Amino acid sequence: MRSLEALLLLLLAGGTEAFRICAFNAQRLTLAKVAKEQVMDTLVQILVRCDIMVLQEVVDSSPSTITLLLRELKRIDSSRSYSFLNSSLLGRSTYKEMYVYIFRSDKTQVLNSYQFNDTDDLFAREPFVVQFTLPSKILPSLVLVPLHTTPKDVEKELNALYNVFLDVSQRWQSEDVILLGDFNADCASLTKKRLNSLLLRTEAGFHWVIPDGEDTTVRASTHCTYDRIVVHGQSCQSLLKAAAAFDFPSHFKLTEEEALSISDHYPVEVELNLAAPSIKSLSLTTLLLLSLLSPQLGQVI
Ligand SMILES: *[C@@H]1O[C@H](CO)[C@@H](O)[C@H](O)[C@H]1NC(C)=O
Ligand SMILES: *[C@@H]1O[C@H](CO)[C@@H](O)[C@H](O)[C@H]1NC(C)=O
Repeated sequence: MRSLEALLLLLLAGGTEAFRICAFNAQRLTLAKVAKEQVMDTLVQILVRCDIMVLQEVVDSSPSTITLLLRELKRIDSSRSYSFLNSSLLGRSTYKEMYVYIFRSDKTQVLNSYQFNDTDDLFAREPFVVQFTLPSKILPSLVLVPLHTTPKDVEKELNALYNVFLDVSQRWQSEDVILLGDFNADCASLTKKRLNSLLLRTEAGFHWVIPDGEDTTVRASTHCTYDRIVVHGQSCQSLLKAAAAFDFPSHFKLTEEEALSISDHYPVEVELNLAAPSIKSLSLTTLLLLSLLSPQLGQVI
């Protein structure tokens, strides 16, 4: 009887699969940086949590940095497949960085991608927009719009991000969009008043899932909600399970100094409930089998 209850629970819970999407400002990520064993180990432990990760501040144009990360990821669990997609190097000066998506290619695929056509030079690092397939009937695809703002232009860039949203939702006829990254949307870079007057706050339908007040910075001396995730779309919002900054120094028991060798930011993460089965979706055979095995449980169902 006990084991039958356990079986039923397993059947009910088994199909519930969380899909985790992350964004991380990896602070000047280079080959030299990932070549340090402790940095690599921690980065891989952070990456392995995510089905899709959007890295920011990748400053190497050489693909070896990401190739090395992927190799280590596959070493942890060879049953998984990973792939990546990078933007070009972006920036107004000689300092440039790219957005890099690292994703579980056994769960999701790239459907479309484009670099926002920033003819008015609104962004220092214009979003590299990607549409992914998802293993979900409710939400078969999802668009990600990353942004790493430049601290002196936060308000302007975040208002321009609303235009990127309009552009992409029109282009791909898609309402389900997640905007994410190091927005610098707090502390000295953006006052509370200006934050609350952003189009992404005043227009309906945008859900800021990393709440104001959540610390996304590593230093004990700073407490700012720089890194954000904004969810748009009915289907996407209906599947929302959890969202938070990932305090990796506490999680991996690192000192502040050790953590800062990886980044001065925490990753931010959102979890979607992709395959929450209702009892209806259990197969008829399963139900018959269960009711045969246990009349009591059969009645419950
Ligand atoms: C990805 O980066 C490489 C250089 O490492 C570059 O040649 C390529 O164009 C980038 N991909 C995109 C889509 O910009
Ligand atoms: C970007 O927009 C400008 C002006 O609308 C246009 O001339 C140009 O061809 C566009 N570039 C791309 C790559 O779409």
